[in-house]
Parts: sequence; structure tokens; C-alpha cells
Amino acid sequence: MTLNGKNAIITGGSRGLGKAVATLLAKEGVNIGISGRNEESLKSAVAELEQLGIKAFYAVFNVDEEAEVKKGIALLAEKLGSIDILINNAGIGTFGKLAEMPSQDWEQVIKTNLFGVYYTAQAVHPYMKENGSGDIINVASTAGLKGGAGMSAYAASKAAVISLSQSMMAEWRKENIRVITLTPSTIATDMSIDGGLTDGNPDKVLQPEDFAEWVRDILKMNRRALIANGSIFSTNP
Ligand SMILES: NC(=O)c1ccc[n+]([C@@H]2O[C@H](COP(=O)([O-])OP(=O)(O)OC[C@H]3O[C@@H](n4cnc5c(N)ncnc54)[C@H](OP(=O)(O)O)[C@@H]3O)[C@@H](O)[C@H]2O)c1
Repeated sequence: MTLNGKNAIITGGSRGLGKAVATLLAKEGVNIGISGRNEESLKSAVAELEQLGIKAFYAVFNVDEEAEVKKGIALLAEKLGSIDILINNAGIGTFGKLAEMPSQDWEQVIKTNLFGVYYTAQAVHPYMKENGSGDIINVASTAGLKGGAGMSAYAASKAAVISLSQSMMAEWRKENIRVITLTPSTIATDMSIDGGLTDGNPDKVLQPEDFAEWVRDILKMNRRALIANGSIFSTNP
């Protein structure tokens, strides 16, 4: 299926996985709306996207804040004209031992990673329902499939995203909205490198472009087919 002329919103599209997906979709002719908290990095990402010959916009909003999310999504929908694709990608990784991690940090991870996905999907849903179709990709993590040492908050948040996303899929597929839950393993970005997840060797793990190619290929599948869940791993040991 061609993606040319479609409109996509990508939360956390200013860097890391979100930016790689935005870039690859733009190369397919998709118009892009990105969001994040830092306006400078959003502006520079939009300038790069425009160089690819598509329309690109940004909205500054914190996915933790329901009212901000509603306003930001409405702004992007107005600029784009409609929303065909949502990549629910913004997230944080705060890692630490369960006995030592301050409760504020724990709560923050849940708020951003879980409530952020919920607020954004809920804000986008009316636009897709009106269109009679849409694709939502919720970015969880392999950490959500199995907890691990030093990952209690992150793994719990991603396990909850998997569950939320599966419920979303069950409700919205009847409206021709494909909801896809992705569980990538470690990918070299600020989050994994700064969080010490790449063992000082980011070349050994997946790269953001690998994730972006996967997302593009899933979105290009015929609409009668829905990939409900998927994982991606590096072949390196
Ligand atoms: N990298 C990995 O190994 C890996 C593996 C599996 C899953 N994931 C998931 O993939 C997603 C992207 O991760 P990444 O590695 O690309 O991270 P990243 O490089 O740290 O980028 C995170 C993006 O999310 C935005 N963001 C963070 N908190 C936000 C908030 N409260 N409100 C709005 N925007 C926010 C950031 O922009 P601002 O800072 O400007 O807000 C940035 O654009 C996350 O959900 C992550 O959990 C990553």
C-alpha cells in the first residue's frame, strides 16, 4: 500500500526512534506532525523533514498533561488536515534499584509512558473515527514482556502499555483502526546510551533506522491485514 499523501503524528519525534520514523515516513511522502517538550529540537527536526519535500509541523506538549495533549493534537490535526497514522512513541527510561529509586521517579515513568499513551490515543481517536480509518502504533518494549533488575518502573510501565494497547485494538479495530503493539529490544538512542543499556557499545545493538524500516513496512501492509503485536531484536550476541 502506498503511504504517499498520508498524515502522521509522531510523539517524541524530535530525536531517537521518533525522529528516525518521521524521516523514513517523510521519504514515503507522508506529511508529518511531531511533538515533544523541547521546542528548539522540534524546530530543527521540522526543518530537516521539510527538506524531504513534505509538509511538517510541530506542537510542544508534555504527554503527561491531558489538557496539553488535547490542545497539541488539535493543533497538529488542524495543520495536517486529518490524522491517518499515530506513532505513540514519547517515553522515558529511568532505571535504578527498586529499594533505592525515589517514588517520584517511579511515578514519573508510569505517568509519561502509560498515561502519555492513553491521553494521546484518546485525543487522536475522534479524528480517526471521523475518517473511518487509521493506524496507531503504540511503542512498548521487550522490557514490558518480562521484568528485570534495575527496570521495575520502566518494565511495569511498558507491561501496562502492552495491555492498554491490546484493549485499544479490541475496541477500535471495529472502526477500521489498526492498533499495533510493538516491543523492540535495545536500540541505540539517548535513552539507552545514557541509561547504560548498551554496555558502552551502541554499534552492537539495533539502530533507530532498523526500527523505522519495520514501522514503515508494517504500515504498508494491505488494510485487511493487522499485525497486532511484534518484537524486534539485534542478531548480535
Ligand atoms: N531506545 C531503546 O532501546 C528502546 C527500546 C524499546 C522501546 N523504546 C521506547 O521507544 C520510545 C522512544 O525512545 P527513544 O529511545 O527514542 O528515546 P529518546 O531518544 O530519549 O527520545 C524520547 C523522545 O520522547 C520525547 N519525550 C520524552 N518525554 C516526553 C514527555 N513527557 N512529553 C513529550 N515528549 C516527551 C523526547 O522529546 P523531549 O525531551 O523534547 O520532550 C524525545 O523526542 C520510548 O517509548 C521508549 O520507551 C526504546
